[in-house]
Amino acid sequence: MKFGFRLLIQRTVLGFTKSPNQNRNLHISASRILGLRCAINQTHKPYPNWGRFRGFPVTYYSYNKPNYVADYSTTLESRVNEKNFESIYVQGGGDLGKTVGEELRLKGIVGSEKIESCEEGIGRVETVAEKEAWRLLREAVVTYCGSPVGTLAANDPGDKMPLNYDQVFIRDFVPSALAFLLKGEGEIVRNFLLHTLQLQSWEKTVDCYSPGQGLMPASFKIRTVPLDDTKVEEVLDPDFGESAIGRVAPVDSGLWWIIMLRAYTKITGDFAMQERVDVQTGIKLILNLCLSDGFDMFPSLLVTDGSCMIDRRMGIHGHPLEIQSLFYSALRCAREMLAFDEGSKNLVRTINNRLSALSFHIREYYWIDMKKINEIYRYKTEEYSTEATNKFNIYPEQIPHWLMDWIPEEGGYMIGNLQPAHMDFRFFTLGNVWSIVSSLSTPKQSNSMLNLIESKWDDLVGHMPLKIVYPALELEEWRIITGSDPKNTPWSYHNGGSWPTLLWQFTLACIKMGRTELARKAVEIAETRLHADHWPEYYDTRSGRFIGKQSRLYQTWTIAGFLTSKMLLENPEKASLLFWEEDYDLLEICVCGLSKTGRKLCARGAAKSQILV
Ligand code: GLC
Repeated sequence: MKFGFRLLIQRTVLGFTKSPNQNRNLHISASRILGLRCAINQTHKPYPNWGRFRGFPVTYYSYNKPNYVADYSTTLESRVNEKNFESIYVQGGGDLGKTVGEELRLKGIVGSEKIESCEEGIGRVETVAEKEAWRLLREAVVTYCGSPVGTLAANDPGDKMPLNYDQVFIRDFVPSALAFLLKGEGEIVRNFLLHTLQLQSWEKTVDCYSPGQGLMPASFKIRTVPLDDTKVEEVLDPDFGESAIGRVAPVDSGLWWIIMLRAYTKITGDFAMQERVDVQTGIKLILNLCLSDGFDMFPSLLVTDGSCMIDRRMGIHGHPLEIQSLFYSALRCAREMLAFDEGSKNLVRTINNRLSALSFHIREYYWIDMKKINEIYRYKTEEYSTEATNKFNIYPEQIPHWLMDWIPEEGGYMIGNLQPAHMDFRFFTLGNVWSIVSSLSTPKQSNSMLNLIESKWDDLVGHMPLKIVYPALELEEWRIITGSDPKNTPWSYHNGGSWPTLLWQFTLACIKMGRTELARKAVEIAETRLHADHWPEYYDTRSGRFIGKQSRLYQTWTIAGFLTSKMLLENPEKASLLFWEEDYDLLEICVCGLSKTGRKLCARGAAKSQILV
């Protein structure tokens, strides 16, 4: 049996600072790993003493902004009924708490015993769904050497074939991390970040080939290995794609890791964490991998199919939007967190140039709306010149029929992928909402995207938020592009299924753009159903009416995504720590430098008026 990270570790490991060389040593020889044995015999159990592990004071979610309070009271009546009383938060200080509570009681919306059960001033009644979600989330916590380090992807006691759903996935842990952070419980996130950092350096091979240094695993599992007759040791065993179905490369893991690190420091205020030498080295390794030169002609990141949340063949190789928006966010996070010294000066310059080129590229070439589609519809082709309008030689026949009818008058979105002679016109939710969150899109584009989601609500939200991609690949396209994948049949799983975990990202985007009503509507749809349906991983059919064919139940990121969405809505101040505003300085950087040569290749000048909105 091959074990990845055989960590015979002291619990104090989280406190020490490792030099980059020590880090390298870890992957060179397993026998050289230092530390003490962690002898234990149980790897997964509900974390028993949760309350004691709060890394910093718990704050109840109080509305400090006067305008939010006003907004709260005006919408009170319309939002409250007996069924959803739980979603009322009698908080924000003694007087407000009393007033709201009294108002609810007088209106006969809730009985006095419910009001009394709220602590005065800061009382908060959790919904039945929330209560269950918290219990399930805590039960999904995985411990390593007695400390919490992550959450299982799914924790369905009835599932006899968990495949790799009994592992801790990096991407799946993001909403769990946010839920814990927003609750004031930072320790699990800190442990997760530090342990996965150790895995980053582990030797990984697919047959006889070793993928690049800096790669973060897709997932890890804690295995228990017998030491002798009486003792066992715990071992962290990462999967870099070498066991994953289809051997897909987890490109998004490293990007999410950086994003999570920033969220951790912003919410906890533990800035010492990002300053650690091993953490700085980890960030740089990920960046080196992403920023290394290749043959590519575009500033977007070139990846293989299935390198993100959609981790099966779905025709998203090349430059998929999801990876670009995560890449853009990770670069912005890294720029903020890198210690600015001689050693990192060049790296920061490279990051700035890439950010600037990437945002120009995506805003200019991925964006479509009615006007742009009409432009493409009338494109001339085979233009050989630096002045070409149709730079990628897109044949208008590529515009799919569904799109001509579907695109609304108002609103637009970022297409899924762009390559020479190819535009993937499908709408991918994560890429679109995350480009809003990261400000990869302009404020105008971000608003337009939410307008489109609103006007296409039945298609993109329907009975369960949100479609992973719209529309589904059918018939020949399904056969050729998915490789006849029976799990990805039309309107199922990755091929047009509905994924409740996308709710938190949508919520964040809505909060950023001041469109919380949209997020609330989506959360409301999700709440009752998720609870009744036992928290499925995904839903099937055009409008998301059925629990997915092979969907896991008690899927952790469904549970955590729901909790995170609710907490973000309650706590817009904290939400604002998780998104980015437009960086105007970046728009000024023009990296092509071609104006100096006298050749008029840089389209930026012309595009600036559109970009700067
Ligand atoms: C599936 C999903 C992937 C997720 C994993 C664990 O493979 O496609 O995005 O990370 O399950 O939940």
